[in-house]
Amino acid sequence: MDAGCSTPDLAGFVPSALECRGKVVENRCVAKDTWIIRLSCPELAREITPGQFFMVRDPRVTDPMLGRPFALLDVWKDADGNVAGVDFGYVVVGKMTKLMTTWRADDTCVLWGPLGNGFPVPDVDRLCLVAGGIGVTPFLAVTNEALGAQQYGQSGRNVPNRVKSVSLCYGARSEEHLACVDQFRDAGASVNISTDDGSYGRHGFVTDTLRELISGGDCPQAIYCCGPELMMQAVGKIAAESQIPCWLSLETPMACGFGICFSCVTRVRMDDGTTDYRRTCVEGPVFRAEKLCFS
Ligand SMILES: Cc1cc2nc3c(=O)[nH]c(=O)nc-3n(C[C@H](O)[C@H](O)[C@H](O)COP(=O)(O)OP(=O)(O)OC[C@H]3O[C@@H](n4cnc5c(N)ncnc54)[C@H](O)[C@@H]3O)c2cc1C
Ligand code: FES
Repeated sequence: MDAGCSTPDLAGFVPSALECRGKVVENRCVAKDTWIIRLSCPELAREITPGQFFMVRDPRVTDPMLGRPFALLDVWKDADGNVAGVDFGYVVVGKMTKLMTTWRADDTCVLWGPLGNGFPVPDVDRLCLVAGGIGVTPFLAVTNEALGAQQYGQSGRNVPNRVKSVSLCYGARSEEHLACVDQFRDAGASVNISTDDGSYGRHGFVTDTLRELISGGDCPQAIYCCGPELMMQAVGKIAAESQIPCWLSLETPMACGFGICFSCVTRVRMDDGTTDYRRTCVEGPVFRAEKLCFS
């Protein structure tokens, strides 16, 4: 086990989660109010899979006291080709994310993860990823796994059939908010951008781009989506109309991240027609779209 990592005794909640020290390698602003941070934390990086997340805390402060959840952007490798850490993206919205912009190389933070279920291994020829704002970040690892560029998880998740094409429909407020576009192109995704103000790509909503893709010759066979809830609701509806299986990744605010506080519950439809609540941190954050009630 790497120095600075331990497995707390939380059997029954998230037995595979680790508490690690993450050392900042790089922390840079890549778009308006949007940063990407690279942390050295090999043990977490070797375990995590696309769509999973981790809680991040600054051990030097007591406010904020609780960790904040962030999704894996991707793992990175050292000069010897060994998986050495994680990258994640963040938008500056409040206390923790403002504090994070002050982190410099060699600062350390506390990480708790991997958490959540993540996206399923894609088993289709044509995969479509629909992202709104910072909801784009979980999809770089999804793209790299789907196109066979990287294996994730200790034993490497088995991707039975390499996906033939990955289309990213990415909506942002304006050009200055766009992040990681070149990384997606370099990874081999076909990138379709829309902006609310028309400053880049299509002028309009990401759902317009999705509808166009569906009505074109290469209709996607599965959709993964992450972004604002209204957008995800609309994407789930389009997918249902087009009979395309769809998974949505929720960004519900969380307190503990491992199942004990119930601050993150979301209402889901059960098979018998009733509804019940599920914890986004443990049973999610990724859910089949038709299961979510959105109210
Ligand atoms: C599974 C998961 C993965 C996530 N991945 C990312 C990621 O990769 N990048 C990223 O930038 N963010 C991500 N988020 C959201 C991120 O956790 C919050 O933006 C962060 O906790 C804000 O912390 P803060 O202390 O800066 O803001 P706070 O001071 O806690 O809050 C500032 C304002 O933001 C609002 N807010 C806080 N959290 C959320 C939320 N989850 N949704 C909507 N409004 C919120 C508060 O109500 C408040 O108005 C993710 C959330 C979840 C649940
Ligand atoms: S955040 Fe505590 S139960 Fe999900």
